[in-house]
Amino acid sequence: MSDVVPNAEPNAEPNPEPNPEPNPVSTEILDGIALVAIANPPVNALSHAVRAGIDAAFADIDSDDSIRAVVIYGCDRTFIAGADIREFGKPPQAPVLPDVINRIEACEKPVVAALHGTALGGGLEVAMGAHYRIALPTARFGLPEVTLGILPGAGGTQRLPRLTGVGVALDLITSGRQVDAEEGLRIGLIDRIASQAGPDDTADLGAAARAAGLAFARELIDTKAAVRRTRDIAPADVASDVFAEYRAKMARKSRGQLAPQNCISAVEGAVNLPFAEGLANERILFQELMNSDQRAALIHAFFAERQVAKVPEIKAASARALTRIGVIGGGTMGAGIAVSALLSGLDVTLIERDAEAVSRAEASVAGILQGSVKRGKLSQDRYEAILSGAFRASSDYAALSDADIVIEAVFESMDVKKDVFTRLDAICKPGAVLATNTSYLDVNQIAAMTSRPEDVIGLHFFSPAHVMRLLEVVVADKTTAEVTATGFALAKRLKKIAVRAGVCDGFIGNRILSHYRKAVDGAVLAGASPFAVDRALVDFGLAMGPFAVSDLAGLDIGWATRKRLAPTRDPRETYAKFADRLCEAGHFGRKTGTGFYIHDAEGPRPNEEVLDHVARDRIEKGISPREISDQEIVDRYMAAMVNEAARVVEEGIALRPLDVDVTLLNGYGYPRWRGGPMHYADTVGLARILADIERFASEDAFLWQPAPLLKRLVAEGKTFADLNAA
Ligand code: 3HC
Ligand code: NAI
Repeated sequence: MSDVVPNAEPNAEPNPEPNPEPNPVSTEILDGIALVAIANPPVNALSHAVRAGIDAAFADIDSDDSIRAVVIYGCDRTFIAGADIREFGKPPQAPVLPDVINRIEACEKPVVAALHGTALGGGLEVAMGAHYRIALPTARFGLPEVTLGILPGAGGTQRLPRLTGVGVALDLITSGRQVDAEEGLRIGLIDRIASQAGPDDTADLGAAARAAGLAFARELIDTKAAVRRTRDIAPADVASDVFAEYRAKMARKSRGQLAPQNCISAVEGAVNLPFAEGLANERILFQELMNSDQRAALIHAFFAERQVAKVPEIKAASARALTRIGVIGGGTMGAGIAVSALLSGLDVTLIERDAEAVSRAEASVAGILQGSVKRGKLSQDRYEAILSGAFRASSDYAALSDADIVIEAVFESMDVKKDVFTRLDAICKPGAVLATNTSYLDVNQIAAMTSRPEDVIGLHFFSPAHVMRLLEVVVADKTTAEVTATGFALAKRLKKIAVRAGVCDGFIGNRILSHYRKAVDGAVLAGASPFAVDRALVDFGLAMGPFAVSDLAGLDIGWATRKRLAPTRDPRETYAKFADRLCEAGHFGRKTGTGFYIHDAEGPRPNEEVLDHVARDRIEKGISPREISDQEIVDRYMAAMVNEAARVVEEGIALRPLDVDVTLLNGYGYPRWRGGPMHYADTVGLARILADIERFASEDAFLWQPAPLLKRLVAEGKTFADLNAA
């Protein structure tokens, strides 16, 4: 007999509201087993309604003597993917999750969590509050809270160490990494893997999880299995210095971040305190993080990365089918782009200039793929299959005649690019998307070389292209919405984050970079050393300082760009010459062994010669160097970045401030826990950023012209977040 009832709110008063919150939790009773189903699309997040629904379901279950076991499962694509992140920062509404989970754990009848999809965060905590756990073979588990600036705050830091031991718990909680079903079984997180249901995307995995849970519950009843509460497991003893060592390790690995440290303290509480006190300790540490700027920044980053795909012009457009990719140029970028496409199962034809360059490109592609094999990311079989089937290189452009999309990554020269696009126009089939990976050049001019500018787009990858997640999709004047949609679809296929950008010198990221580079050069001319600038910005949270980045990219690249722009440079611009002089002396950075730093076996260290070039530059400009504090370095860097970003938004080069944040976070090493430059500006206050710009303008009025949008927002008392929401 089956009987499905939506659960009532516990002790619910008659609801005067005309539209009461719908209950996403229903209970079906089948042969004395209560099947509690969560249906809160898209990811069954633990919203208030879900928490209240589960609470009410267990109130009914507790009072119904005919029920002998319980199964809790998620409908559709996944078990519960965690707390409802949209509720963060708002006042908590009872029942709160720790109480709901305590109630599940306290149930006097065996409770089985039947897992599929991704059981994450609060979802995994619900599963750990259940007495038994079974999972479909394709299920994955994790506690990603640390990536959102918080910790598992519903008992996860107390129950996981009891199930898996402290070492595994510290690893999973401080990294947020996911484990698959097999690893979950091995570490003691789940009890078994269900035998049914393969990785068939079309199968109803929610129904499969329900069936697996039901079979497990029947077996528990038949064997008269007892209730088995995680809280009753005694945590294993650990060496006394484990936590101190972990703290030191995370201080190095997650520089500046609060959440990993609090995660460790919470797990330590699981070992040193009785369960209830450990839970209370976890709550305090959780609340501290919940109230932090870092949490707000990381949640902003999470939603911005999803919002960025919402581009009005492609809403109604369908992407073109992509199977065969052409890549032109097999240098740094071309080889990386080819590998990225090959690892995503696409077929790649790479074109180089001559037989020798073809062999070099083949070797680079094979080398990068071999690296993936070494790191265990690619099987040897797949490696061989890719090289003998999906990949080929040639010097004959005719090999691109059936490509669905061609991505050009030849030298950064307009003449070379124009020549390539003229040839592509003659060879490619109608409907093929013609893309350029140019860093700065005008995509409209490149498109004009073809008879089909509507099919031309910029796809700006970042180096190394098979690793970096950002893809700027540069929409030229005549690019159709269908082609733009195809750029976004390709990014998704390559597991990259696409950001829409308009055409200008450098698009979103490199344009802003060029501007803040001038500001840091200004800080050096004013008195800071390039090494002090790098150190201050690394302390601020950047992965690398700007001068170290230049060394890595090759100082000749920026030099070439500056030479290209020299004829149009405004005479009012203060032009720092020290970087050009380093290049003139043959220092191109890592590739020549010397640049701003000396790169040798001892590891990078400052190249003191730089200071002579800087001193000469100051003398020529009549600047007496002064003390520049680390704070001033950061203030200059951020004010310049935000100011140019405001112009980029106002001109429509970026759709919204959040598009700038996603670009800087994923392509330029901006610290995620600061949310991106626009979020940072909102956090410190736009008025302060404007005041900084006005302060620095007294030294260089041309560089420090406040962006009109910034002035307007300050005058209206608004924030960049207001523009995101508009
Ligand atoms: N709360 C609210 N909304 C969520 C959400 C959550 N936990 N997780 C995902 N969503 C939303 C997304 O914003 C998106 O909304 P949109 O369609 O309006 O843009 C939609 O669900 C689909 O998400 P994705 O585009 O990310 O879908 P994918 O299939 O690519 O990925 C996922 C699914 C793996 C579940 C991924 O969404 C994810 O990682 N979610 C976050 C999981 C997480 O961090 N959970 C922990 C939350 S904190 C917590 O539980 C605290 C507790 O300890 C107290
Ligand atoms: P690279 O110099 O490493 O490679 C360019 C390759 O193109 C060379 O192998 C060359 O033989 C080949 N080539 C030149 N003309 C050709 C032609 N007519 N037909 C076929 N192949 C030809 O340069 P890199 O760094 O890979 O840059 C390529 C493009 O990507 C440039 O436009 C650059 O601005 C852009 N880019 C570079 C980034 C970087 O970090 N290196 C980042 C993002 C974009």
